[in-house]
Amino acid sequence: MKDVYTIDDLVSRSRLDEGAESPARLAVIGSPIAHSLSPQLHQAALDQFQSGVRYIRLEVPPGKVAMALERLQRLEFIGANITVPHKFEALEAVDEIDPAASTLGAANTILFEEGRKLAFNTDGPGFVRAIREEFLVDVKDLRIMVVGAGGGAGQAIAAQCATEECQRLVLVNRTLEKARDLAARLSPCFESERLEGPGQRLVVRPLDSPGLAAETDQVDLIVNTTSVGLRRTDPSPLPSGCLQPHHLVYDTIYNPAQTRLLGEAFQAGARSANGLSLLLYQGLLSFELWFPGQQPLETMQLSLQQALTP
Ligand code: ATR
Repeated sequence: MKDVYTIDDLVSRSRLDEGAESPARLAVIGSPIAHSLSPQLHQAALDQFQSGVRYIRLEVPPGKVAMALERLQRLEFIGANITVPHKFEALEAVDEIDPAASTLGAANTILFEEGRKLAFNTDGPGFVRAIREEFLVDVKDLRIMVVGAGGGAGQAIAAQCATEECQRLVLVNRTLEKARDLAARLSPCFESERLEGPGQRLVVRPLDSPGLAAETDQVDLIVNTTSVGLRRTDPSPLPSGCLQPHHLVYDTIYNPAQTRLLGEAFQAGARSANGLSLLLYQGLLSFELWFPGQQPLETMQLSLQQALTP
């Protein structure tokens, strides 16, 4: 049994399952993939509900996602998770795309069904569920600032907020152009009159904008989707003076558990949460796609806690 498998291991069942007690029938595909917590998350649930199914990590280079999915399907896999950098490429390699994945322009879950490859995205719905569980509020009722709106995670979260018709969406990115492109795609969601005129419901700002602190006045939820905070020495992605007691602050980073941003949120008297709930709920929703009706929430929660306990 290996920690990480490659596309060459998918040539036959005997090679893939060598030394293993049960057949691999689910996988997470990415590059690099060695750090992924998805196997811990799903294997615990599989052991509880679907004994005899193994979940593996699969390292797949860019350009080979279609071949990997083809081979998994031939080996009678149930499905797969797709992670960085393959969430876009996966859409090109399937037979059918669910509307959420289509809107978000990316897939994180594949289901093999009756000879067809179906693509879904549970990142967006997982985010909505995470915000509801953490703060007891609905995304649709909030004015939201997405920091890092040019990255893959930021685009998915922003697109979901737009689909939910949130009250206001402020897209912040270091490279303004990327946030502008995203805003152009999302603007049809903001055409209806709500709290403010259409022009003001969707706003784009560069991360170094001098007016950013004033802009944060006008939002309820601030979401960090940048990679700033992954290293313990990283600063906050936001300039100082932006956070206030009325803010809800969500950092999609979960390791380290407390980023500088979350520390500053605490000092400002704001409520905050890290990205563990997003990881949990996107995983739970994937599991429900593969095994409808099953709800391994507590099991998954426990396995994540164990995986992250030093
Ligand atoms: P992805 O593969 O999801 O695009 P990424 O390249 O790590 O991931 O970038 C994720 C986000 O973090 C982007 O919004 C990126 O900003 P740019 O679009 O300007 O590149 C943001 N980001 C990364 N490092 C940053 C930094 N040091 N300061 C501010 N934003 C940063």
